[in-house]
Amino acid sequence: MTTETRDGGDAHPLRSYGRRKGKRLTARKAALVADLLPRLRPDLSHPAPNDVRTLFDRALREAWLEIGFGGGEHLLWQARANPDIGMIGCEPFLNGVASLLGGIDDHGIETILIHDGDARDLIAWLPDASISRAFILFPDPWPKKRQAKRRLLTPALVRSLARILQPGGELRFASDDMNYVRAALFTIGRDGDYVWTASRANDWRERPADWPETRYERKALSEGRKPSYLCFRRR
Ligand SMILES: C[S@@+](CC[C@H](N)C(=O)[O-])C[C@H]1O[C@@H](n2cnc3c(N)ncnc32)[C@H](O)[C@@H]1O
Repeated sequence: MTTETRDGGDAHPLRSYGRRKGKRLTARKAALVADLLPRLRPDLSHPAPNDVRTLFDRALREAWLEIGFGGGEHLLWQARANPDIGMIGCEPFLNGVASLLGGIDDHGIETILIHDGDARDLIAWLPDASISRAFILFPDPWPKKRQAKRRLLTPALVRSLARILQPGGELRFASDDMNYVRAALFTIGRDGDYVWTASRANDWRERPADWPETRYERKALSEGRKPSYLCFRRR
């Protein structure tokens, strides 16, 4: 649950995302938002269960988390490729949420939950060591110097992810903004609870095979920006 303030912001000091709504939804997507989304939303007004896998309707092996899933292409791909994993996606942009709902409905997926708000609220709610893999793919780069404070990846976020990640769990981060990539390497490296798993340049220059292209990545590549793909293991 994101607490809205009078200026339309949330309880966090700085918003890490842009607009929350885009163009008007189609009738089908509006219906999915009205009917399906409430059934997939974790209820943050009650304490989280000790075992987050029990949030799902069937027995699952692990729970993974995607922060800022955009249109949900990556999350849907992972859910289809890993039917024994429960996925929790966070995205405050309604049109992106609606796109993912369309995919969930098209493919009859029963292993995705959606927090349609600020990921930091969901992370604060999740129990220790409850998530096996977390994805932050192409977070808004906020490239101007005065905007850098809005970036999602801060020492506090890295710390809270270390709390919810299981030992041996994985954090995946990608960006096409080299300043952000450098800042992420510095911030995650300095935390002390993560090991960068790359052993050669291609490990961060090439997208791993179990990681599909995202919409934002395609845009970056078409505009000539080469992304970096960082994988960290939680100690
Ligand atoms: C540049 S887009 C990338 C979307 C997608 N991951 C992709 O690669 O196509 C970044 C997304 O992160 C979302 N976002 C930003 N701050 C967030 C937060 N605090 N919690 C959840 N999502 C957030 C934005 O709404 C936006 O959709």
